Parts: sequence; structure tokens; C-alpha cells
Amino acid sequence: MLPSQALLLAVVFALAALQALASDTFMAAVYEHAVILPHPTQEPVSPSDALALMDKNMDVLEGAIKEAAQQGAHIIVTPEDGIYGWRFTRESIYPYLEDIPDPVVNWIPCTDPSRFGPAPVQERLSCMARNNSIYVVANIGDKKPCDSSDPSCPRDGRYQYNTDVVFDAQGKLVARYHKYNLFLGENQFNYPKEPEAVTFETPFGKFGIFTCFDILFYEPAVVLVSKMQVDTVLFPTAWMNVLPFLTAIEFHSAWAMGMRVNVLAANTHNTSMEMTGSGIYAPAGARTYSYNMKTEDGHLLIAELDAHPRLSPASPPAVSWNSYALSVERFSQNDHEFTGIIFEDLFTFTALTEPGGNLTVCQKDLCCHLSYKMAEKRDDEVYVLGAFDGLHVIEGQYYLQICTLLKCPSTNLSTCGQPVEMAQTKFEMFSLSGTFGTSYVFPEVLYSGVQLAPGEFKVLRDGRLKSKHGTSKPLITATLFGRLYEKDQPHPLRISL
Ligand SMILES: *[C@@H]1O[C@H](CO)[C@@H](O)[C@H](O)[C@H]1NC(C)=O
Ligand SMILES: *[C@@H]1O[C@H](CO)[C@@H](O)[C@H](O)[C@H]1NC(C)=O
Ligand SMILES: *[C@@H]1O[C@H](CO)[C@@H](O)[C@H](O)[C@H]1NC(C)=O
Ligand SMILES: *[C@@H]1O[C@H](CO)[C@@H](O)[C@H](O)[C@H]1NC(C)=O
Repeated sequence: MLPSQALLLAVVFALAALQALASDTFMAAVYEHAVILPHPTQEPVSPSDALALMDKNMDVLEGAIKEAAQQGAHIIVTPEDGIYGWRFTRESIYPYLEDIPDPVVNWIPCTDPSRFGPAPVQERLSCMARNNSIYVVANIGDKKPCDSSDPSCPRDGRYQYNTDVVFDAQGKLVARYHKYNLFLGENQFNYPKEPEAVTFETPFGKFGIFTCFDILFYEPAVVLVSKMQVDTVLFPTAWMNVLPFLTAIEFHSAWAMGMRVNVLAANTHNTSMEMTGSGIYAPAGARTYSYNMKTEDGHLLIAELDAHPRLSPASPPAVSWNSYALSVERFSQNDHEFTGIIFEDLFTFTALTEPGGNLTVCQKDLCCHLSYKMAEKRDDEVYVLGAFDGLHVIEGQYYLQICTLLKCPSTNLSTCGQPVEMAQTKFEMFSLSGTFGTSYVFPEVLYSGVQLAPGEFKVLRDGRLKSKHGTSKPLITATLFGRLYEKDQPHPLRISL
């Protein structure tokens, strides 16, 4: 390269950097990756076999990272387990792990790869970030040796952590996060002793990071937003969809709206495991998302976001979730209440028997009010208004308060609550509210075919979830998913204390 060319390049980079500094928006990318899995085995493979498998996955990720950078993305998130998959024991994952240092060491693995011993995965991720001038977010495994001087040191002499790493556009390690809320069966990993609230500053806002199951709990997810005031959450996940309330696109977009923060959610893709659904979510709704149960392909998403969503006039206001519901009398006294099960939780339901009306259903401390008008009352479809106030106990324990307008799979009321993906009834209007005992409520709206409804609904300051101009597609559910974190069981590590 001639010196003049180098100079020109430097000027171009400086201008680009200045532009980013001055800019109040940025381009975000997430990549849903169909992970190439290792052969299932109890026996650990050799380190070179482990690296060969990880390189295959990183070859695919590199293509997505280059493409995202070419399209102007400043940051890209790749999924949890995206580099080695998930079928492991504690021993068999060991050859895939690297010692990941605390980012305070100020390390660019791409230019100084062996400073902390062998780290080929961190080196390659760092180079991908550096070569393409883009922040790269990935999920890998960390190993930390320990010995008997530490009473909680595992018997095999090491901690193993499910870990997110972030490399900045120079390839420097700027964040390392150890997953705090491990999912059932993640026995290959240890819990970190304390929840880590990991943040970092960029020219396009303050970022926080956590992983998958973490999103259902207070620490560190809510702490990052409420206390540390991050603008954007990076969210690598390997999310198995559960209708009607915990499908990835639905719940993750609702969390962004309820917490009034951007969320970059990158899911792994494996349809037989019900893993699909990634998105770039702003507080007012999804900027882009994908949900694909038809093919086994990866998918790159790119969209623009506000760097500081709290300062943006487009962002929704702070909500007092029970104001409206506490201010009105019961809409109806129901002789026709019945119960039904959703994800093993016992809901109280009442059916929407008229084309329009006002209904109330209560359970324990929670009363849910619904005003609605259907475009057409069909004989072959039934919707219910449901309430649940209690501890959810399947696949994790967490305390919920839920108000839901939900389509039943059939006109047989005993089926209400079972998963349903398709519907035919559009609503001219719905307005849902509840007497929530929490300020953490996540508003979900899902249309037929498992589609989001960005821009078609809003939450008023008084806590009503309302359609704006009716639903453009048939409705599966409109739900207020509330979390009462203070009624949760203690974290597994704290039970023994
Ligand atoms: C980064 O660029 C260098 C020099 O052009 C090249 O040798 C290396 O393979 C690249 N690495 C990645 C991960 O893109
Ligand atoms: C999806 O995951 C399952 C279970 O781990 C695995 O058996 C299957 O091969 C995966 N599918 C693809 C397309 O990789
Ligand atoms: C529902 O309530 C609204 C406002 O309180 C009222 O205008 C409307 O007539 C009611 N609808 C029915 C069908 O009772
Ligand atoms: C209604 O659904 C329940 C639960 O799926 C089933 O056990 C029952 O047989 C159904 N009743 C009729 C009349 O189809």
C-alpha cells in the first residue's frame, strides 16, 4: 500500500469513527445459526478434533460477520452454543474450553494470541472483529483451574462456565459474562459464585449482556437495565419455543418493550428442538425478526436502532401497570368460569361468548379486565380471557402473574390453554389490563402463524395493552406476562447458604 493510500484510509476510518460518535443511531446485526453439532459421545475428543468442529461453525459465522460488516453493521450477535452445540457432559466439553481472561487485561487476541496460553477460538473471533471493524458477540466455554484452598472447587479441579465474550472493532476483548441462570441439564457448566452485571460503553450507547434462561430472572437481567441503565442488551440464546407465552420472538420482544431497552436476540436454529426465532427489538416493537420452522438454514438480520432509546421520543412511556385495572369495578360476574392448564400452570378462564364486550376474570390477587370487539364472531373458534397468579414450577421455578386473551385449539373448552399456532379471528379492538403487584410486566401480542405485530399495539401509561387500529391478522394471543421476582425461590447456589 502506498503511503498516500494509507493516509486516505486513515482519514476514511477517522471520519467513520467521528460519524459513529456523532450518531444517535447504529446498525445492529444478529445471526441465527444452525449449529453443526459434534457426534454425541461421553468420551472427550482430542483438542484438535474439538477445534476442527468449532472452526466449521466459525467458518459459517465468519461469512455472516463479513456480510453484516459489508452492510454497515456496527455489532453482530451470534447464538448461545453457536460454536460447539449442546450435547455434552462435564468431561466431554472440556476440550472445547479456553481460559478467558478478565477484560481488564486489555488484550487483543488477534495481535497477541498466546499471551494467556493457547486460545485459538478467542484469536479467531478477535480477528474476525478486527478484520471487519465490527463488534463481535459470541458464546464459548471458559475454564478456570482451582484447588483445595477453595472449598467449593469441583473435584476435577476446575470451574467450567457458559460464557459470552465481546470483541470490539479492534479485536479487543471488552466483555466476558458467565451465565448465572443455567437451564436444566446444563450439567457441563458451573454457576458463577455471584451474578455478574457486565456492561461496556461504545460510541453508540451502553451495552449489557446475558444469556438465554437469564432473561426470566432478576439477576443480572433486570439489574443491568434498572440499575446500570444500559441502552442495549446483547442476548445470545439457545431458546426452545413454548407456546403460547414463551416463544422466542414473542417473549424477547415483550421483554424489550417492558424494560424499555433494545434487545439483540440471536437464537440457535434447530427445528426438531423447536429452536428458532431471532430479532432486533426496540422498546416500541421489533425492527426485524425471523421465525422459520420450515428449513434448517441460518439467517442474518440487520436493522437500525436508537443508540439511547430512553431519550428517543418514539419510545413508550413508563407504565404504571395496575393503574387502570385498580380504578375500575369488575366488568362482569362470571358464572361460567372454568380452569385450564398452560405449561402446567392452572389458569382461571372465561370464554368470549359474544362478538364484543367487557369481561373480568380473577385468580388470587390478580384480576384481569378485557374490553374487545371481534371483526366477526366465528362458530368454529373460541377465545378465552385467563388469569394466573402463582409459582410456575416446570422447567425452572419463577413466580408469575398473567392476564391473557387466548385462542383455544378447538371449540371444546377443555382444550383451552394448549398450544395453538393458527387462528382466523381478527379483532377490531382489544384492551387488556390487570391488577398487577409488580412493575415488571411484559406485553405480548402474537398473530396467526407465530408472527409479531410491531406497530399494531401499544401500552398506555395506565397499564392497558391496546390494539391501535384492530389486528391486521388473526390473533393467537394478547398477553400481559408479569414477573414477581421477590416471590421467586432463591437461586440454586443460595439455597444451601
Ligand atoms: C484477518 O486478516 C489477516 C490479514 O489479511 C488474515 O491473515 C487473516 O486470516 C484474517 N483473519 C480472519 C479471521 O478474518
Ligand atoms: C437438532 O438437534 C438434535 C438434538 O440435539 C440433533 O439430533 C439433530 O441432528 C439436530 N438437527 C440438525 C439439523 O442439526
Ligand atoms: C364495554 O364498556 C364500554 C366502556 O365502559 C362501553 O362503552 C361498552 O358499551 C361496553 N360493551 C358492552 C358490549 O357491554
Ligand atoms: C374435549 O377435550 C378434552 C381434552 O383434550 C378431551 O379429553 C375430551 O374428550 C374432549 N371432549 C369432546 C366432546 O370432544
